[in-house]
Parts: sequence; structure tokens; C-alpha cells
Amino acid sequence: MSRYAETYASWQSDPEGFWSDAAQEIDWFVPATRAFSPKSGVYGRWFEGALCNTCYNCVDRHVEAGHGDMIAVIHDSPVTETVARFTYNDLKIQVGALASVLRALGVGKGDRVVIYMPMVPEAVFAMLACARLGAIHSVVFGGFAARELATRIDDASPKVIISASCGIEPGRVIAYKPLLDEAIEIAANTPEKCLILQREALACELMHERDVDYAETVGTAIREGETTECVSVAATDPLYILYTSGTTGQPKGVVRDTGGHMVALKWTMENLYGVKPGDVFWAASDVGWVVGHSYICYGPLLHGAATVVYEGKPVGTPDAGAFWRVIQDHQVVALFTAPTAFRAIKKEDPVGALIEQHDLSKFRTLFLAGERSDSATIEWAQKRLQRPVIDHWWQTETGWAMSGNPVGLGTFPVKPGSPGKPMPGYDVRVMDDEGREVEPGTLGNIVCKLPLPPSGFPTLWQAPERFISSYLAEFPGYYATSDAGIIDGDGYVFIMARTDDIINVAGHRLSTGAMEEVIADHPDIAECAVVGIADDLKGQVPMGFFVLNDGIARHEAEIERELVAAVRARIGAVAVFKSAIRVPRLPKTRSGKVLRGTMKKIADREEFKTPAAIDDAAVLEEIATALKERGVP
Ligand code: COA
Ligand code: AMP
Repeated sequence: MSRYAETYASWQSDPEGFWSDAAQEIDWFVPATRAFSPKSGVYGRWFEGALCNTCYNCVDRHVEAGHGDMIAVIHDSPVTETVARFTYNDLKIQVGALASVLRALGVGKGDRVVIYMPMVPEAVFAMLACARLGAIHSVVFGGFAARELATRIDDASPKVIISASCGIEPGRVIAYKPLLDEAIEIAANTPEKCLILQREALACELMHERDVDYAETVGTAIREGETTECVSVAATDPLYILYTSGTTGQPKGVVRDTGGHMVALKWTMENLYGVKPGDVFWAASDVGWVVGHSYICYGPLLHGAATVVYEGKPVGTPDAGAFWRVIQDHQVVALFTAPTAFRAIKKEDPVGALIEQHDLSKFRTLFLAGERSDSATIEWAQKRLQRPVIDHWWQTETGWAMSGNPVGLGTFPVKPGSPGKPMPGYDVRVMDDEGREVEPGTLGNIVCKLPLPPSGFPTLWQAPERFISSYLAEFPGYYATSDAGIIDGDGYVFIMARTDDIINVAGHRLSTGAMEEVIADHPDIAECAVVGIADDLKGQVPMGFFVLNDGIARHEAEIERELVAAVRARIGAVAVFKSAIRVPRLPKTRSGKVLRGTMKKIADREEFKTPAAIDDAAVLEEIATALKERGVP
């Protein structure tokens, strides 16, 4: 029997009491007198008045409780053919020493530190060391190019940047240091110091005066027994800023506060993921994404579990058995990844032969999130793994699942295509564009009644007006998720699409608006549109459509190559922008709005109705012809 319904009801009847109970799992320096202060912040604040430290709760308290010899971090790196394990004692030494190095470099409470690193354990140490000092980290995903990094440096104005000499993708080594140097060159804000982790695969030779060698300085600090105390911060102080794609090229700096984040994540480890302290939990994501923040770093460590930092891919490092090998070697009990990873595995090993070759006896549950799970992938995973496959719905803005199926409380029956029911803390509704709630089973805008639960973002970094205009203005009293979907008569949520220009490529959230800004900068382009078209492996991939300026006689293939190169150089390889098609005109409404949704439907060969407000319906035929000439689909 699932205890979901009674747990959700207990939260509904007394939200403050529910989260006060959950807060007992956290060690506070000074606890809050009440869990929620409705008059503070934009929509209230959680645990106002409490003092605490996230690093203390992730590291020191486990050591003090006598669990120092338990494994905390496992770095499994098929791309360097190495495995390293760190106990909670080791973690305390590494993080304490790094924090003391950062402090010596001038980092203190409230200062920002940008972390631009591959999947190495030092990335997790860096996040924790910032938390230890009360500094605010901002991790930037390694697949972003220099300009994207520069935008984030400018917005966060970090005192220090922590980076590495290189990242390793299958078949190629990516020099990070030149990207970092270029980003600092572009950015208006210059960090005082950069702490650089030299890696064997490619050390960087050019060290500027501002650059400090990570291994040397932290190594010396460890040898000399240097550490720092865990600085007491307010529960409402920011722990981190994580930039996520918005509708323009300017990413949104989602602010995560300290106390509520700990309370919510700790609650999920046992109740949602069914994980016990001492278990090995693996989020096969990247520390640059919110899933990596919450479940590679903070969640498992708050819980006293072990976390896997995996530097590899689901396929190609070396084969489609990589996930099963990691689960077997480290006795992983729960894996959390994006459906795209499973589609990649399924493509290479359709009968799951490599699953059979591994001992998965400790493995209990697979969790999927980050994009819509297609039924075929879920069914394949269930059949081949013979274990529960749980889809759950997430956003960077919330930091944890808004809907799911709680393993620790006992699961309820899965409905294919649904990421479960709302989690306690989330009052999820579906509304039409006028803000009226729709009948069960009707498609509409998915919104959450305010306040958001603990860990929900209180604002955007240095953009309080954008916070309100992007999220709170459209449906007063509710948080607009920008997802469209339905809630059926049994209370199951279904997420169908984004209502904005965000696309989801291989589980990565990307802005088509940002790509359009890059294309529009090309001197030969009059106008352009980017849409996300369906892709068997990555879910969606971007496709550009461009109109040339009058009189441009250059070959369009050449221009396409330039556009592809420009998006890769300015946004990064992660954008997967590979094709741009020349069209004579873009379809528009009479008021001049580009009909991107209709273009997407034509490219996906979906049925579509010619929009009533279209200016000239003949343009749709031109789009279809251009796609056909290119052999799409
Ligand atoms: N640093 C530098 N480059 C990176 C990078 C990183 N951290 N991550 C990806 N890239 C590059 C890739 O090498 C690739 O480059 P290419 O165009 O030269 O081939 C490009 O960015 C696109 O990457 P991706 O879309 O990830 O494609 P892929 O073919 O490398 O891998 C999957 C496909 C499905 C295996 C992979 O996307 C995956 O594992 N996705 C899971 C997503 C995920 O964890 N999401 C988080 C939410 S749970
Ligand atoms: P991110 O902020 O990168 O985590 O991306 C959040 C977006 O990913 C959501 O707004 C959804 O559009 C999509 N998403 C995340 N999880 C799911 C899921 N389980 N099912 C469908 N879409 C999802």
C-alpha cells in the first residue's frame, strides 16, 4: 500500500507542520522559530531566522557521528580509466583544505565563485568548499562555449573561478583553459584569481598571474593540516546561482537558498528515492545541471549516502554496458538519468544483452527526468531491467521533483506517459490562458499555487523584476511553470510541451531565442527562426530557418556552415545546432509574429491547421518545399 495519499493530505492540512517535521533531519546552528514567514520575500520565505551551513550537514556531521569511514564520493571515469573513492573523512580534509585556499584567495561569505569543470570529484569539493565559507557558487556546464561562460561571469561577478585544464569527451580532449581565458577576455568583470586543476590528459602551459595551481595549493594545505570552520549563514542566504535558459540569450540566474534546500532534498532521499544512508546513489547527469547539483552533490551527501561522479557516457565509453558496469562495480541502488541516455543504450543494445552480463542484484530503481519519457523507452527499460522505472518531473527553478511516484512511501500504479502525481509541497493546477482552472483531462498551462515549497527559488539573481514578469505575473498567486499538460481524473500529471521557446535536447534545456540571436548577427541574414524538431535519440534537436538579405548571391550551403559554426562557437557543442535551411519567407501572423509552432509541425510531419491569423498561407507551402528539398524529414 502506498502512503502517498495520506502523506500528501498531511502536507495539505498543515504545510508548515509538515516541513517543520522534515527540518528535524537537518542540524541547525540556530533553528527557525517557525517554518514559514508569509510576509517575507516575494511569496514568503522558508526557515527565516535559522542559522546553518550546508557543508556541515553534508560532511562534518557525518564524521562527527562516527561515519567518517563510510564512502561519500566515488569517481568513476572510463574516459581516464580511473576509479577513486573518498570517505567522509577524506571529503572533510579535501573540502576543508580547499575552503582554506579559497579564503586565502579572498573568498568570504556572500562572494560568488564560478565553477567550470568536467566531471571530476574536485567539482563536488569546490561546491562544498563554497558552501563551507558561505560563498555562492555558480557552476557552468562544460559543454558551453566561452561566450556563454562570459555572460555568466558578467552576471555573477565572481571573485574566483575554479576550473580545470581540460575535459574529456569520447575521442577528444577539450582544452578548458583557453575557453576560460577567452571568456575572461570577453567579460567585463574579471575575477581576481583562477584556481586551475591540471589534468594529465592535457595540462595547460599558459598560466597567467591570476592563475593558481589547484593541486599544489590544496596539496600544501592538506599537508599542513589547514582547514576552515563551517561559516554560519542564514537559512535564507543563497547557496548557489544556477543559470538556466530563458527565452532570450540572457540566461536566468536561478537563486537557491540554503535552509529550505537542505530540508527538501533530505526529505526526498528516503521518501521519494527510497535510499538509506550508506546506500550508493547515482545521478548520471552533470554537475552543471540542476540534477547534478541536487543529486550528484547535495542530496546524497546530506543523507550520508555515497554518490557516484561519473565521467563518461551511456554509450561509447566503451559500450552500451557502461551503466550496468558502474551499477555492478559500485553496488548502486538507484540510478537517475534522462530518457535520452536510455534511448542511446536501447539503440546499441536492443535486446539488453549487456544487462544480462552484469550483476545488478543491489539495483532497485531507475528514475528518469529532464524531458518527456516516451512509453517505448519506459517499457523497454522495465522489461529489460525487471525493476520499477519512475518518471518524475523537474525544473531548475524548483531543485527537486514537482511530481513523481515516491518509492520510500510505497509507489502507486504507474500510468505510462505520466511523471506521477504532485509531490507534497506542490499544489499543481492546470489553467487556460485566462487563468481559469480547466476540467480534469484538459490540456492547459501547468501552474503551482504559491508558495513554492522549500528549495523553490525565491528570486532571480540581480533580476527581481524578471522573476516576477517571467514566473508570477501571468497567473497571479501561482508560479507559471511554462510547461503545458494535463492532470487526469485520478490526479496524474502529464507534461506535454513547453509553452515558451525552450527546447529539450538530449535532456539539456536550451533556448531557441539564444540561437536566433546568434544567427541574426550574421551579416547576410535578414531574419530567422529556430524550432525544436523531433529526434529519435535526443528527443528534440534545433533546426534553423533563415531568410537572406536581398542581393546576397553566396551559396546557401556556405552560409549554413557559417551559421552552424557560429552557434557552436557562441553557445557551445551542447546546442547540437547542425542544420539551417534557407527559406524565401517566414510564416507570420498579420501582426508579425513568427509561427514557429506551425513550422515545427510541418518539419515533424504532424497534422496542423493553417492558423487563422496567418498573413499569407502560401508561405507554409514554401517551408514544406524547402524541407522536402533538404530531405527533411
Ligand atoms: N564538455 C564539452 N563538450 C560536451 C560536454 C561537456 N561536458 N557534454 C557534451 N559535449 C559535447 C559533445 O561532445 C557533443 O559534441 P559533438 O557535437 O562534437 O559530438 C555535443 O556537446 C552534444 O552533446 P550531447 O547532445 O550530449 O550528445 P552526445 O552524442 O555526446 O551524447 C547522449 C548523447 C544521449 C549519450 C548524452 O546526451 C547523454 O547522456 N544525455 C543525458 C543528459 C543528461 O544527463 N541530462 C541531465 C538531466 S537528467
Ligand atoms: P531543467 O530546468 O533543465 O530541469 O528543465 C526543465 C524542463 O524539462 C521542464 O520544464 C520540462 O519541460 C522538462 N522536463 C523535466 N522533467 C520532465 C519529465 N519527467 N517529463 C516531461 N518533461 C520534463
